[in-house]
Amino acid sequence: MKAIGLTVETPGIRVVDLPSPAIERETQVKIRVAEVGIDGTDKNLVQHHLVDVEEGESHLVLGHEAWGVVSDVGKSVKNFRVGDPVIPTVRRGCGICAACLNFQSDYCYTGLYKERGIHKLHGFLSEEVVDEEAYLVPLPKDQALIAVWIEPLSIVEKALDQLRLVQQRMPSWCPHPTHAWDAPDWGGCKRAIVIGAGPLGFLATVMLRLQDVETYVVEIVDPDTTRVRMIERVGAKHLDGRAFSPEELVRGVGRIDLVFEASGASKLAIEFIPYLPRNAVYVMTGVPRAGGVTVPVNADLMLRQMVRHNLAVIGSVNSNASHFARALEDVRVIRKRFGTVLEDGITHRFLFGSAEQAFAVLQDPNSLKVVLDVLERPAVNLHAHS
Ligand code: BGC
Ligand code: ZN
Repeated sequence: MKAIGLTVETPGIRVVDLPSPAIERETQVKIRVAEVGIDGTDKNLVQHHLVDVEEGESHLVLGHEAWGVVSDVGKSVKNFRVGDPVIPTVRRGCGICAACLNFQSDYCYTGLYKERGIHKLHGFLSEEVVDEEAYLVPLPKDQALIAVWIEPLSIVEKALDQLRLVQQRMPSWCPHPTHAWDAPDWGGCKRAIVIGAGPLGFLATVMLRLQDVETYVVEIVDPDTTRVRMIERVGAKHLDGRAFSPEELVRGVGRIDLVFEASGASKLAIEFIPYLPRNAVYVMTGVPRAGGVTVPVNADLMLRQMVRHNLAVIGSVNSNASHFARALEDVRVIRKRFGTVLEDGITHRFLFGSAEQAFAVLQDPNSLKVVLDVLERPAVNLHAHS
C-alpha cells in the first residue's frame, strides 16, 4: 500500500510502501481513502522536517483532512457499513483527562493526546486507514466532492463558538435582541477583521458572511488573485496588509466586534492587539511551528489597551466530532446562500503520486484548497442524494 509521509532520517516528502493496516479491534473500521486536502500545517511539517513519531518509528504518514469509503468493519461497529462515505477526525484523546473522557479532546488537559498526520500517529495520506468507529463522522454522499473542507471548517466552527461564548460576557451594543451573541442571528450589525485569506481565512470569511457580519480580510496579496476573488464572492472586502499598518487597518475599518486570525503570521497577529477597540474579541488559530520570530512590543501600550478596552484574546485549536457534524450541516446553508464557493475553492487536484507539486502550489495566492486524489475513482456515486 502506498502512503506519503516524512522519514525521520531525510528531509522531504517520500512515497512509502507500507503493509495495509488491519482491523485489530471489533470497534474498528477500515477505510479506502478517497481524497486528502493539504494545508499550512502539512507544509510546516515538511518545510521544517518535523517528524513527530513514537519511539522507534521511522516515518510519519502525513494528511489530516480526508474522506474515504468504508471497506471493512469490525464485529461491533454499529453506525457504518461497507460502502459508506466517512470523514475521520484528527485528534485522539489522552484517555485520562475530563475533556478527553467527555469527547472533547480538543480541550485535552494533559497534552498527552495524539493527532493523526501531525503528532505521533500516522495520517490519512495513504491508500487505506483503520480507525475506531468513535472517531469517524458519516459523510452525506452529496458532500463528498467538498468533503476535504470539513476538517478545516470544523476548526472555524470551534473558534467561532469560543468567540461567541466569550462575548456573552457583555450586553450587545446594538438595539436588536436577535443580534445577541447567543442568538441564532448573532452576526447582524457586527463587523469583523479576518487576518489571512488562505483556506482557513476563506472559511472563516464564509461563515461570518453567512451570519451577515460585515467582513474585512487582511491579506498580503494582489487584488487580482483567486484568494481575494473568493472572499469578495461572499461579500467580504480585501484590505492589503502591505499598504497599511495594523493600526491604520483598524482605524480604517472603525468599529470592530471581532478579529479572526487565520494566517499563522505571528508578527502581524500580535501587532493588532494594542489597536483593537473596546470590548473586542480576538480569536487566534494559526500554529507557527518554526518558533523563531521575535518582535519588539510596546508592552505598556499592549497591557494598557488590553485592560482599558476589556479585550479578550483567545487561542483555539483543533475540533471534536460535534464540530465536524455542525460543519456538515453548515455546508447545506453555505450552498444555499453562496452556491458553489466550496466546490470552486478547491483550486487544485493532484494525483496521489504528485505530492511535491501539490505542496509547491500551497504558496500560490491563486490556490486555495489543494487536494491529493488518493483514489482516482471513488467507489461511491457522488451524485446520488443521501
Ligand atoms: C489541524 C488541527 C490540529 C492543529 C494542531 C491543524 O492544522 O487542523 O486539527 O489540532 O493543526 O496540530
Ligand atoms: Zn486529555
